[in-house]
Amino acid sequence: VKKLKYKILTILRENAPEFISGEDVSKLLGVSRTAIWKNIKQLTAEGYDIAASSRNGYQYLAAPDELNAFEISYELGTRSIGKKIIFFEEIDSTNNRARLLAEEGAEDGTVVVALHQTAGKGRMGRTWDSATGKGIYLSVILKPDSSPAEMQKITIATATAVVSAIKKLTGMPALIKWPNDIILQGKKVCGILTEMNTELVRINYIIPGIGINYSQKRGDFPEELQDKAISLTEYAGQNNMEFNCSKLDIVRSFLKELDNLYFALLSGDSSEIVAMWKKNSATLGKEVKIIHKDKELEGTAIDITDEGLLVVRFKDGRVEEISSGEVSVRGLLGYS
Ligand code: BTN
Repeated sequence: VKKLKYKILTILRENAPEFISGEDVSKLLGVSRTAIWKNIKQLTAEGYDIAASSRNGYQYLAAPDELNAFEISYELGTRSIGKKIIFFEEIDSTNNRARLLAEEGAEDGTVVVALHQTAGKGRMGRTWDSATGKGIYLSVILKPDSSPAEMQKITIATATAVVSAIKKLTGMPALIKWPNDIILQGKKVCGILTEMNTELVRINYIIPGIGINYSQKRGDFPEELQDKAISLTEYAGQNNMEFNCSKLDIVRSFLKELDNLYFALLSGDSSEIVAMWKKNSATLGKEVKIIHKDKELEGTAIDITDEGLLVVRFKDGRVEEISSGEVSVRGLLGYS
């Protein structure tokens, strides 16, 4: 059930830009005017901009800048992703929490969002720096009724959804560095960590977790990342672009894109996902260096298979399909 304050908020919002009297709201909801006033005070404390006048009543002006669960799911219109949002100011890792919730029976499409992570996790056992709260940190709990093989492309779908959201909202030329880093001018703007719990032919749950650098300045990143990472606002600043896209816009757009691609996967159709992924690849056609344990080999990335393997032609003419778990790839021309 929706909390009273959000019922009030919805009424004010639907009535905007007009004022509505406290009395009218209290009649509509069957609660006292004092209750209305107290809840509006709470909403204002949460960052909602609501004008109050003794003559005219209340007028909705604007939502808070910061993310909250209600704003993320408000009229989102997705079939599954984001129908339920679980929000934390601070958490160890949204992926960890999503796992616990998945074990405890959370529904398909539940999204875990946090403003800060104290132990954000990256791929290959690395950490994901999330101390400043200037990034977007979220994990999606998926419980598809399909086989692990059918859901193999969920990380590709997630990367594609992030790229589409960034491009549509900002026009920035985001690209996917194989397997699934999102980059802007050769620097990483988003990372994806997918964790799953599967049996041979059954998926218990899959959790794609995404971290998007939203407003970090160069100095906010750990020193070793300062040449390798970039945020959306930093990119906009460096390229004299106007930037008026909130974290909320990005999260909502991403969830909608992912909902579409997830349902395409569920229906067994991954052609669009693979095509979009290839189209937005920063790696295809480039000279790459494949680093495996302490060996380094140079070659050209000539294709990406339908399974998501990177096809590399090495200098000696050998062609191999590389899987993402084993290697790290460096572009020879810049980071991409
Ligand atoms: C990478 O190494 O590129 C993957 C980074 C993934 C970070 C995100 S932030 C939200 C979610 N929770 C985590 O602990 N990690 C992922």
